[in-house]
Amino acid sequence: MSIPQRVRIVEVGPRDGLQNESVLLPVEAKIALIEKLAAAGLRDIEAGSFVSAKRVPQMADTKAVLARLRPPPHVHFSVLVPNMRGLDEALACGVRGVAVFAAATDGFSKENIGCSIAESLARYAPVVEAAIGAGLEVRGYISCALGCPYEGEVAPRAVATLARDLAALGCHEISLGDTIGVGAPLQARRLLEEVGRDVPLAQIAVHFHDTYGQALANIFASLEMGVSVVDASVAGLGGCPFAPGAGGNVATEDVVYMLDRSGIETGVDLATLIDAGVYVCERLGRENQSRVARALLAGRRRDHRA
Ligand code: HMG
Ligand code: MG
Repeated sequence: MSIPQRVRIVEVGPRDGLQNESVLLPVEAKIALIEKLAAAGLRDIEAGSFVSAKRVPQMADTKAVLARLRPPPHVHFSVLVPNMRGLDEALACGVRGVAVFAAATDGFSKENIGCSIAESLARYAPVVEAAIGAGLEVRGYISCALGCPYEGEVAPRAVATLARDLAALGCHEISLGDTIGVGAPLQARRLLEEVGRDVPLAQIAVHFHDTYGQALANIFASLEMGVSVVDASVAGLGGCPFAPGAGGNVATEDVVYMLDRSGIETGVDLATLIDAGVYVCERLGRENQSRVARALLAGRRRDHRA
């Protein structure tokens, strides 16, 4: 077992978390959320996406959000870009990284970005090249890595081949997305074994949605395989508008708690992170999905009454 001593958490709440919410957060609230996440010690924050405003209205103000953020030098903001137009917008905003997003099935790819897997790779090739040329880091996502809402089971080999193709385009990191949260730990393990034949696991991140309550177990199985980059979303917000039935991402608070208690460093302060989750849940008028936050907040209330 080669569990890493330190895990890098990529906070996707301001993008994956908010993109699926029915309440549109104003720009000021998004900025306040991102600043609170950075204050908690999160260094990699996905701040938004440059996609069609008709398809994802929650992300339409990404430019305005980025324009007013002043990240400290150690904090990296990134955004999703589906094409050259998105990259141009991202470059104008001065982000340090962008992410292109492909899928393991043609069915999901067409629903999400309007083209097949092969067409998406052809579309992304010049985007990745231009981004790298401009000095940005480029992450590549693979959605539906453990199951697809349109095609069902997904073969690990298909994911491995796509991971290899994205790495060949120049993506420095490939994030394997269990978009609808159906995977279980030994499946995650088999997936990583297969992907590891084509791309070093040092280049792989895992992105688990928690629809079926498997995300923490899947993360731990991935750490045992040597993965050390984990995506998570504050308060367990999240979901994909184009993946029916998809639940939120694994809650960042739950990941930090599990890693803290296991003696694995994250650099994140759990109490400050919980405050960020409380803030965004209040603004959205929704329940906090983090079990750790709920337990610790109940403890805070008890202490307050005592
Ligand atoms: P398309 O229909 O193939 O292309 O869309 P198009 O060029 O005809 O554009 C359609 C409309 O989008 C046009 O506007 C364009 O101007 C506009 P209209 O004429 O209808 O008013 N448009 C843009 N607007 C802003 N920024 C741009 C941009 N490009 C075109 N860069 C496209 C292709 C990908 C743009 C579209 O299908 C789209 O925006 N899809 C949304 C994709 C999305 O954001 N999905 C959710 C994120 S992925 C995810 O959640 C999974 C992940 O978390 C991992 C996991 O969990 O698995 C990453
Ligand atoms: Mg996602």
